[in-house]
Amino acid sequence: MREQDSNLLHSHLPSLPSMPRACLKRHSTIGLNSSRKEKNHCSWSTVNDLILHIEDMSANKGLVCLQDYEQYAHQNLDKNALDYYRSGAGDEYSLELNRTSFKSYRIRPCCLVDVSSVDVSTQVLGTCVSLPVGISPTAMQRMAHPDGECATARVSDKYPTTATSKVMCNKDWGVFAAAGDAGTVFILSTLSTSSVEEVSAAAPHTTKWFQLYIYKDRELTEKLVKRVEDAGYQALVLTVDAPVFGIRRSDVRNKFKLPPHLTLANFKGLHATDVTESKGGSGINEYVLSLFDPALSWEDINWLKSITKLPIILKGILTAQDAVRGVDAGAAAILVSNHGARQIDSTPASIEVLPEVVKAVGGRVEVYLDGGVRQGTDIFKALALGAKMVFVGRPALWGLTHSGQQGVKNILDILKWELETTFSLTGCNSVQNIRPCMVVHKSFYHKL
Ligand SMILES: Cc1cc2nc3c(=O)[nH]c(=O)nc-3n(C[C@H](O)[C@H](O)[C@H](O)COP(=O)(O)O)c2cc1C
Repeated sequence: MREQDSNLLHSHLPSLPSMPRACLKRHSTIGLNSSRKEKNHCSWSTVNDLILHIEDMSANKGLVCLQDYEQYAHQNLDKNALDYYRSGAGDEYSLELNRTSFKSYRIRPCCLVDVSSVDVSTQVLGTCVSLPVGISPTAMQRMAHPDGECATARVSDKYPTTATSKVMCNKDWGVFAAAGDAGTVFILSTLSTSSVEEVSAAAPHTTKWFQLYIYKDRELTEKLVKRVEDAGYQALVLTVDAPVFGIRRSDVRNKFKLPPHLTLANFKGLHATDVTESKGGSGINEYVLSLFDPALSWEDINWLKSITKLPIILKGILTAQDAVRGVDAGAAAILVSNHGARQIDSTPASIEVLPEVVKAVGGRVEVYLDGGVRQGTDIFKALALGAKMVFVGRPALWGLTHSGQQGVKNILDILKWELETTFSLTGCNSVQNIRPCMVVHKSFYHKL
């Protein structure tokens, strides 16, 4: 296929590789219609490519949304891993809230806007990304698939930029040369089952951020930060909501432990293996209790800044007050998150907190969100309420369980396809065109 044809095709069918079969069938007729064929310069090899995409999609056996992948993971993971990935704290009230709260916001579309070209790319911390969805840090990904974190990180590297977003990136922001280079952001957990260096070698071009837990052993923490810098990670994501771990009842019941063939790959000795045993409760909570520093305070942000030049993103902020404190302390960005509702039950959903944090921060730094993002309209709502980018945690684990790297790519493909469709149907052709008035809380209508 000529490069020109390929670019045109992708600009008209931006999410083609990710489309469910039914949609692909509909679009694959473009190359067969001679007038459209001329207009779009589609060649027969384009049609062949389309057919190949259809065959690829058929391997997914009708998995068309993130819930389908969730169901697959729930049917195929063993109980120890499934409960660890799935669970929230306490009664799991906030876990449900993270999802359902998105439904409390309504989208107000604009009609008769030219959306023949839609671009969902954006920029975070000065880096261009092909869609405003990144991968949140989730621990121990090799329980889901042998390739674990390396596979997830590779997807973020290979994730394609559409022809239109390539133009945007080059024209408006002057960064990134080739389509496909933009990718998205992958955040590696401190508690990963692949090391900082392994992931870096597996996905050298991915925009990688490192999620940091601070250990009581500060020398060990400092060495870890140095390794992260040396391996080319571009930011530190300091998790500020975990002096201890929340009570996840299933993990206590299961006496959760990391399977013995895996280790926490960033460490050696006890720091690597202590989670392969349970002393009677959840092995991960026992690990955290004995090794993480529960005395962490705002002063420690200064300490962290003194040992690294990397930008520091604070993850786990849930109030305007803490957001302002974080920005004053020198944070480069705020990630609004309730840790996937795994810490303290009855916290608000992340989407409920977002407007207050965005307002308090007042544009001084970028604000991101994770927690319960499961479809394109969720992403759109978060962007309209002021998030620069959203992240997903569990959905990447579901994709990984399904088919490793390909499965995670499918998850991102679906989200991108859904977001592009949302853009088209709301009259937005780029992230810059999303206006705050396009999303309102449902109470707006109840007052009318
Ligand atoms: C299985 C699992 C492991 C997680 N591990 C970490 C971690 O190591 N560090 C961290 O800061 N957050 C961790 N989180 C929280 C995620 O980074 C993220 O905040 C959350 O998953 C987002 O919600 P979602 O799963 O609904 O997308 C974990 C979440 C899950 C589900």
